[in-house]
Amino acid sequence: MSPYHPQGDAWVGRQVADAPLAKVMLEKRGEGTATGVGLDGVPRLYGLTRLSATPDASEVYLAVGIPRSVALAGSNRALVRNLVLLGLVAVGALVAARVVAERLVLRRTEALTAATKRLAGGDLGARTGLAGDDSELGHLARSFDEMAEAVEQRAAERARAAAELVRSERMAALGRLAAGVAHELRNPLSVIAGRIEILKHQMAPGQAPTFAVLTRSLAQFEEAAERMRRIMEGLSTYSKPAKPDPTPLDLGELLRATSEVLAYEARKHQVSISVQVPPMLPQVVGDRSALMQVFVNLATNAVQAMVETAGGQVTLKAYESDGSGSPIVAEVTDTGPGIAPDALAQIWVPFYTTKAEGTGIGLSIVRSLVEQQPGAAITVESRQGAGTTFRLTMSAIGADVLARSSAS
Ligand SMILES: Nc1ncnc2c1ncn2[C@@H]1O[C@H](COP(=O)(O)OP(=O)(O)O)[C@@H](O)[C@H]1O
Ligand SMILES: [Mg+2]
Repeated sequence: MSPYHPQGDAWVGRQVADAPLAKVMLEKRGEGTATGVGLDGVPRLYGLTRLSATPDASEVYLAVGIPRSVALAGSNRALVRNLVLLGLVAVGALVAARVVAERLVLRRTEALTAATKRLAGGDLGARTGLAGDDSELGHLARSFDEMAEAVEQRAAERARAAAELVRSERMAALGRLAAGVAHELRNPLSVIAGRIEILKHQMAPGQAPTFAVLTRSLAQFEEAAERMRRIMEGLSTYSKPAKPDPTPLDLGELLRATSEVLAYEARKHQVSISVQVPPMLPQVVGDRSALMQVFVNLATNAVQAMVETAGGQVTLKAYESDGSGSPIVAEVTDTGPGIAPDALAQIWVPFYTTKAEGTGIGLSIVRSLVEQQPGAAITVESRQGAGTTFRLTMSAIGADVLARSSAS
């Protein structure tokens, strides 16, 4: 063997029958190509030929090898280039797919999700804005929009119905009030008419009523007029439009007007009403008409709670709770059956009623009116079989401004 090799001399004369290249040569026995590992261990591509011109019997082969790395360098470069290109194309395709997906799917799902969230959050005007879209998601969005539209319409109808009910409750209350007021006016009017009869009787020609009769008559006229004035006052404050108008208020006067308004209803059911207010109670700031409605609603409930049991007692009370910056407390207490503990939270809910003819909105109106008064709060305390107290706290307008309130 005579290879060209960096250390060619070292190989001359060596037996290499076992070497892979030699095996290939012996296999081919002529011309050909082969891949194999050279004597030096380097993998090569070989071209082989048998040198037939050789005179002697032994066979001589010529093998020319190029290392694989050199031979394949070009195609390897092409492979790498192609792989890089392929990678770039793949990344490009992914980006394009993402952009398309974003346009077609993500944007729509996001619009749907956002609209769903807004709707769930109470914004009934929430729409997806995908009405013209013809894809499957577009259909879904359209169904969603239709559903939201229906929900919005229902809510509007409900609000209209509730407002109607509030109006009719107000009208019913006014109706009750008018009946009560008419009845209340009958008393002082008959007193006046009776007194006039007596006076006429004593005023024959040349005769005059005695001083005592005149004095007594005047006192009764005055009392009747005062009584009628208070009744009218109660009616006019109750029917005023609901535009809040905070003014300094004398709670004693307000509670007395409330008792006047309810006097007829109470007497009809043998319920007595008393007002307890200390003479020098500080004033509070609030809307007179709203507070009047609050007290009339609470007192009406108190009377209605005791219609079955004669001898009930409603107390309208106001006092200054002690401590500095003391809030003023107004209470409406009854000796009725009380409210079951599990119903206590329910009573404020609109339309909750335990009465056959009830609307269940009296207390919800009370609560919303109290919430409109700055610094006011209302609580309820009830013991079954003993009675109920609704307690309204309000801040006083300052100890120096004292209401000239006389106990009744
Ligand atoms: N003073 C009270 N004593 C007992 N139950 C009361 C009293 N006030 C309110 N309630 C209960 O609260 C419910 C709701 O009252 P309200 O909102 O005024 O509606 P309505 O008077 O039309 O029933 C009443 O039906 C009644 O069960
Ligand atoms: Mg009521």
